[in-house]
Amino acid sequence: MRAKIIGTGSCLPDKIVTNDALSSFVDTSDEWIWSRTGIRERRLVSSESETTVSMAVSAAKAALEDSGLLPQDLDLILVSTVSSDFITPSTACLVQRELGTCNAAAFDLNAACSGFLFALNTADAYFQAGIFRTALLIGVETLSKIVDWHDRSTCVLFGDGAGAAVVKAAPDGMIAGLQGSDGSGGDILSCRGRACGSPFFHADASPGCLHMDGRKVFQFAVKKVPECIQSLLQAAGVDAGDVSYYLLHQANSRIISSIAQKLKLPLEKFPMNVESRGNTSAASIPILLDEVHRAGMLSEGDLLLFSGFGAGLTWGAALLRW
Ligand code: COA
Repeated sequence: MRAKIIGTGSCLPDKIVTNDALSSFVDTSDEWIWSRTGIRERRLVSSESETTVSMAVSAAKAALEDSGLLPQDLDLILVSTVSSDFITPSTACLVQRELGTCNAAAFDLNAACSGFLFALNTADAYFQAGIFRTALLIGVETLSKIVDWHDRSTCVLFGDGAGAAVVKAAPDGMIAGLQGSDGSGGDILSCRGRACGSPFFHADASPGCLHMDGRKVFQFAVKKVPECIQSLLQAAGVDAGDVSYYLLHQANSRIISSIAQKLKLPLEKFPMNVESRGNTSAASIPILLDEVHRAGMLSEGDLLLFSGFGAGLTWGAALLRW
């Protein structure tokens, strides 16, 4: 039995922040951001009631409703995030509490922007092993609380939001998945946590902000993602042209165009929402999936390929039948 997606949902904060709005407090411009990233605006949390958990719960409820399952039907709740509200309990346990069910095992995983793919592949492995039969997968980020709002090279890129998918064990669905990591490249995209508060040694206590070497991340993405997609298609024996849509991590439209070019595929096969969402890290693929699904673009039997890359370094891909 493999993981089949039976429902999707998403949640975005109400506040729309345009590139022009950013240029009122950092030295940047709409022209610079648009020409290098394809981003025009992003959604950012703007009240105490909009949190990582609240967005995850809204996306989860929409996905459950779409799937026809009830919270008590879930065996597993898996949340991928690098911006949880609490160190503990996990976001997954907090979502579980809000959904009012205690039947599911719930935990978070951190694979940054590849996180949703790691969650999907993990649920699929549980299903193949016969351990669980249903799962709620959520990618959620409130990156606005970890970016440095004085650093123009990073703060213009990111957005907040949540995306969710309900999956169940089925004879069809996932065809193949892969995930990988290279910790030696971790320094090119990182965010330090809190320092040790022990009374036994002194350490700088200031929490860190997101730090990135943009060029190196760009080079990593345009090399790794096509490799990842090609090896997945080869392993599955599927022709690249037979895939209806490639739903890629939405970091930058130039990265996506370069990947399409390397794969010699038309850009129409690569739906994008980075223009209005920015890079929402672990939430980007499930938000895009939900938008594509709700726009009526998917038909039963379509082949979909998800792929992404992110901090860690991490990368992943999944090929499945809708
Ligand atoms: N507005 C205006 N100027 C900016 C700017 C901004 N927001 N950010 C950087 N600049 C300036 C730099 O200071 C630099 O100026 P200098 O030449 O005077 O030193 C110049 O623009 C070029 O900077 P550089 O970093 O070389 O730009 P780039 O063409 O590589 O584009 C990124 C930067 C971040 C858009 C690009 O590298 C990228 O998209 N990388 C991938 C990032 C990513 O996807 N991260 C998430 C991964 S999950």
